[in-house]
Amino acid sequence: MTIAITGATGNIGGAVARALAADGVPFRMIVRDAARAPELPGAEVAVATFDDVDASRAALEGVDLLLMVSAAEAEDRLDQHRAFVGAAATAGVRHVVYTSFLGAAEDATFTLGRDHWATEQAIRATDMGHTFLRDSFYLDFVEDLVGEDGVIRGPAGDGAMAAVARADVARVATTVLEHPEAHLDRTYELTGPVAITLAEAAAIVSEVRGRPVSYHPETLDEAYASRARWNPEPWQADAWVSTYTAIAEGALAHVSGDVERVTGRAPMSLREVLGAR
Ligand SMILES: NC(=O)c1ccc[n+]([C@@H]2O[C@H](COP(=O)([O-])OP(=O)(O)OC[C@H]3O[C@@H](n4cnc5c(N)ncnc54)[C@H](OP(=O)(O)O)[C@@H]3O)[C@@H](O)[C@H]2O)c1
Repeated sequence: MTIAITGATGNIGGAVARALAADGVPFRMIVRDAARAPELPGAEVAVATFDDVDASRAALEGVDLLLMVSAAEAEDRLDQHRAFVGAAATAGVRHVVYTSFLGAAEDATFTLGRDHWATEQAIRATDMGHTFLRDSFYLDFVEDLVGEDGVIRGPAGDGAMAAVARADVARVATTVLEHPEAHLDRTYELTGPVAITLAEAAAIVSEVRGRPVSYHPETLDEAYASRARWNPEPWQADAWVSTYTAIAEGALAHVSGDVERVTGRAPMSLREVLGAR
């Protein structure tokens, strides 16, 4: 069984790479820049970007099991994903583990959830098996939502989210790669242990960091206006704002037990994630 993973220069893929190496599992890292690949025992390196079909096919030669970490946000990300999925199918990959998004759907309020749904569909349309890891928002990201003035601003109303630690997503992915048969053609919802509102998240950040942090629920117009200073493309602004409107409508409030079911370990809370940073 030959395993390949993408994203090894990033958070999730990097954590999976370290875990596989620590467990003595050989694998191939498919990276965009070989110079930035981590040096790990038992790991070989191949170079490809998702949109380079020839390089991807060559990098995936002989691979049975693939962890495909979704690419960085881009307007053409879905095209990149489709190209890489096609390359994997042609190269003979038998099972793709894909980091999708909670509530991935054609009409998901969080606009990037639509790309994830379409990527899942592209994988389903091949002969390859799948395991979809439908991640909630990352708990690690919560502190980054806090503005310089100590305020989290967004149109999330009083909605709650059961965000998940990147470390838990990586633990689930590692378990699936090490026991693929048990997780073939399954979809997991990866959430944290509890759903919290942004006001509660702000209070936890405030308490752990010892500085005032609060939440200001914006209107939709306020949300687009307050982000205009970064000059986002329309698709990017929609993605940013819909992060919050998805929370407002309750799309991220569901708490799943899948992290614990797969790994045997309870998922981390926001407090634990902040403590580990
Ligand atoms: N659920 C959430 O809240 C949330 C939040 C943010 C992102 N995400 C998604 O989750 C993914 C993993 O999160 P993370 O924290 O591990 O992200 P990360 O640290 O930014 O790592 C992303 C990895 O994917 C690689 N990559 C990006 N675009 C690629 C492309 N077009 N072709 C090939 N490789 C590519 C990057 O390579 P380089 O080092 O060469 O850039 C990097 O290794 C992200 O890429 C994004 O799709 C989810």
